[in-house]
Amino acid sequence: MKKVDVLLGLQWGDEGKGKIVDVLTPRYDVISRFQGGPNAGHTLEFNNEKYILRSIPSGIFQGEKINIIGNGVVLDPQLFKQEAQALLLGGHDIRKQLYISKKAHLILPTHRMLDAAYEAAKGTDKIGTTGKGIGPAYTDKISRSGLRVGDIMGEYNEKYNAIKARHKTILRSLNCRYAIRESEYEWRQGVEYLKSFKIIDSENVINSYLHEGKSILAEGAQGTMLDIDFGSYPFVTSSNTVCAGACTGLGIAPRNIGEVYGIFKAYCTRVGSGPFPTELKNETGEILCTVGNEFGSVTGRRRRCGWLDLVALKYSIMINGVTRLIMTKGDVLSTLDNIKVATAYNINGVVTEEFPYDLSSGEIMPVYTELKGWKTDLTGITSESEFPKELNNYIRFIEDRLQTPISIISVGPDRNQTIVREL
Ligand code: GDP
Ligand code: IMO
Ligand code: MG
Repeated sequence: MKKVDVLLGLQWGDEGKGKIVDVLTPRYDVISRFQGGPNAGHTLEFNNEKYILRSIPSGIFQGEKINIIGNGVVLDPQLFKQEAQALLLGGHDIRKQLYISKKAHLILPTHRMLDAAYEAAKGTDKIGTTGKGIGPAYTDKISRSGLRVGDIMGEYNEKYNAIKARHKTILRSLNCRYAIRESEYEWRQGVEYLKSFKIIDSENVINSYLHEGKSILAEGAQGTMLDIDFGSYPFVTSSNTVCAGACTGLGIAPRNIGEVYGIFKAYCTRVGSGPFPTELKNETGEILCTVGNEFGSVTGRRRRCGWLDLVALKYSIMINGVTRLIMTKGDVLSTLDNIKVATAYNINGVVTEEFPYDLSSGEIMPVYTELKGWKTDLTGITSESEFPKELNNYIRFIEDRLQTPISIISVGPDRNQTIVREL
């Protein structure tokens, strides 16, 4: 029986997951999203086309592979319709290839309103969410009062209205003004559209695919530092972004997990609030942001930039059981004379390589090792043999420290700007 390979982010999201899933798709029969929702923005570039996927898996463009939105995802019908129709406009009819789990939970218009209201109530302590209703939708799932995709196959108004009434009470208690009618109309249009897709018991389908010998790639959203259990809580998202999330989010047994691809940028970014030990609030940070075009694919917000953090990466590799690493955006560092990498934290005078319980408690000073930059444009490189020696040193340094091989190196946003070392 085949196993499910998992590809997930090791930092604070936006590591380039979408691009690499697209590159790996020809090796698989099935690609499946297992958590998150339209807070994700996965960018794919190929043949002079560019798409940003939110809820649809990134395996949708290479051949007619089956793509599944798993039970662990929260789905906004209105945004889903927009996303699918944008693909259609680009000439990609995905209807035959895309299956949706009955057990995925729906994001309601009032979830989005609650997201905004909770953030406003937090004031300066706000999380800086994407405003897509993710937290409130997962809250309803966990408190056993959510609406699922399977529900809309029958009469769902009673359930919907009960949830809406409960949400309105909360919104009023937060002194929040709301106008539901228009967004509700769009949302219901989205629900009708969603019904035209193949809605399935995805856990059964995925397990029978495994028995038939089909190969499956599970695509993570967000990153390990945003995981609800292991991320920089409370500045996290509301799902398990880690490898274990693929088991609960797809209905696969832990022993059926195969390779775990952990993807990271050659530096670090974070969007929204929360601690970021290696953040660069200086000219180098500006350079990374400008050269790396570090603006959120969902909200357009400027991403905060900083040096690579091996303390956090090591922790992420441990939690996920990463077997192979993937490094993206090394090309963005090409203008720098020297590149720093954090190998330990100095927390209130104590140096440690261990990731702390709370990144916000006390002052964390990263301990850096400085490496020489390569000062070479990498974006046209097609083979590892063309790597400048300083890049090889950078790669070797990371592999040594993390004791995990880097199997793929991405040197630009396009599908073709990818060097696969060995898989
Ligand atoms: P995801 O959410 O992990 O899929 O990542 P995003 O799509 O949000 O952000 C990654 C951004 O970097 C996108 O704009 C990609 O097109 C781009 N990208 C991916 N890999 C590379 C790379 O190796 N070099 C450069 N310069 N850009 C890349
Ligand atoms: P992809 O899949 C980067 C961040 C938000 C905020 C926090 C909580 O593209 O890597 P939420 O809306 O989930 O309640 O926001 O998580 N965040 C992301 N940051 N990439 C993402 O997804 C993100 N999804 C959520 O900015 O700090
Ligand atoms: Mg993204």
